[in-house]
Amino acid sequence: MTKKSIITTIPGDKSISHRAVILTALSKSTLTFNRFLMSDDCLNTIGIFKECGIDITIQSNSITVQGKGRKGLSKPKMPLYVGNSGTSIRLLTGVFSAQDFDCTLYGDASIANRPMKRLLLPLSKMGAKINAQTKVNSDDNFPPLSIYGKQLSELTYTLPIASAQLKSCLLLAALCSGVGCTLNGETPSRDHTEIMMKGFGINIEKSQSTIYLKPQKEDFYFQSTSSSVMIPSDFSSAAFFIVLGLISKQTPTLVLHDIGLNPTRAALLDILMGATLPGSITVFNKKTSLGESIGSIEVSSSSIDNTKLTQSLTKRNLPFLIDEVPILAVAAHFGHGTLTISNAEELRFKESDRISSTVEMINSLGGKAKETKNGLIIEGMMGEIRKDISLNTYNDHRIAMSGFIAGKATASSVKASDTACIATSFPNFFDILDAIPEIN
Ligand code: S3P
Repeated sequence: MTKKSIITTIPGDKSISHRAVILTALSKSTLTFNRFLMSDDCLNTIGIFKECGIDITIQSNSITVQGKGRKGLSKPKMPLYVGNSGTSIRLLTGVFSAQDFDCTLYGDASIANRPMKRLLLPLSKMGAKINAQTKVNSDDNFPPLSIYGKQLSELTYTLPIASAQLKSCLLLAALCSGVGCTLNGETPSRDHTEIMMKGFGINIEKSQSTIYLKPQKEDFYFQSTSSSVMIPSDFSSAAFFIVLGLISKQTPTLVLHDIGLNPTRAALLDILMGATLPGSITVFNKKTSLGESIGSIEVSSSSIDNTKLTQSLTKRNLPFLIDEVPILAVAAHFGHGTLTISNAEELRFKESDRISSTVEMINSLGGKAKETKNGLIIEGMMGEIRKDISLNTYNDHRIAMSGFIAGKATASSVKASDTACIATSFPNFFDILDAIPEIN
């Protein structure tokens, strides 16, 4: 019997939504972004630009931003709040260090523990002046950040980690100061900033391991004749439903349209396709939107080979699935064999220490997971799971959603310490999850 197909609409991409607000505000264009992600994180970025005098109107799932140019932001009257958003604080530190006013960026308890030395070091080489917090037992620096904006000088720098937030911070600092920026680094990270800068006609080039932003002395404009653009659906949000489709025998075939398939984001799809039954994941209707690859994904249930997953993970592709590790761990719990994830030390600095919170989440399901220094090991249990799951989410949206996906796949009850955190990236997660019927 052919299973029924359910079409699931995934909201807009979080990384691209942030960048849409930031780059349009700094441009001289007025643009409407459809399928903008109305999540807490992106709304905080909007709030900050409004506080700096940018006119942004919000419709149901679109926004219109009226850019005022590279030097068009005005001094905020109050400290600027990023909430839980690491992308906001890191990208905006770049923007504000190059303004001609001072300001303060701060966030919630998780943000107060996110390391910032990675930004402060290269920014200080550009001449930036930023005061941050210190902590006993750490040589890093933390928010709140007091930023004394000034004209910065050009930068040539070797990125020590594959972080798009760090890379984008530096590119935005150079862009706002009209100076060049050359970034070297062996391991690439998501490239939405570079793609969107090109969309605004900004001169940015990429070779094998170098990114070069030419000094941008003039104001810039969106290069298309259309003033209305569609943001791709977020691959990281789609990932929860891709894994649900694979692990659940009860769930009908799921079809997800217009999903962002940028190769620096969608590595989970590649590795799952290599570790599941042929035909259980198909990608079709591929096209380009806003310079980004998008496509439709159809997924149905399959066994998952954890040995194959392990073999396809490399130091190079790990950053391309960095946000998907919690849901990859759930997939592995439902698979057979052992999944070993290494080179993932950056996970310790996410919304929670995601090595330890992912391990705890899998063990709460009744699984067998353990931590290593730079990753985790999961023994596949082919769907054996507790019927009553009690989850400590550590206020981390991706840990919470991963646990609920495991529960949905097996019709287990899930009690979580917090679900409000899910609104940081996927406010209608439960509406979509609950709308998916079970077929016996
Ligand atoms: C993001 C970059 C990644 C990712 C985060 C969003 C971005 O962080 O984990 O959720 O939008 O640039 P790092 O740059 O720290 O790897």
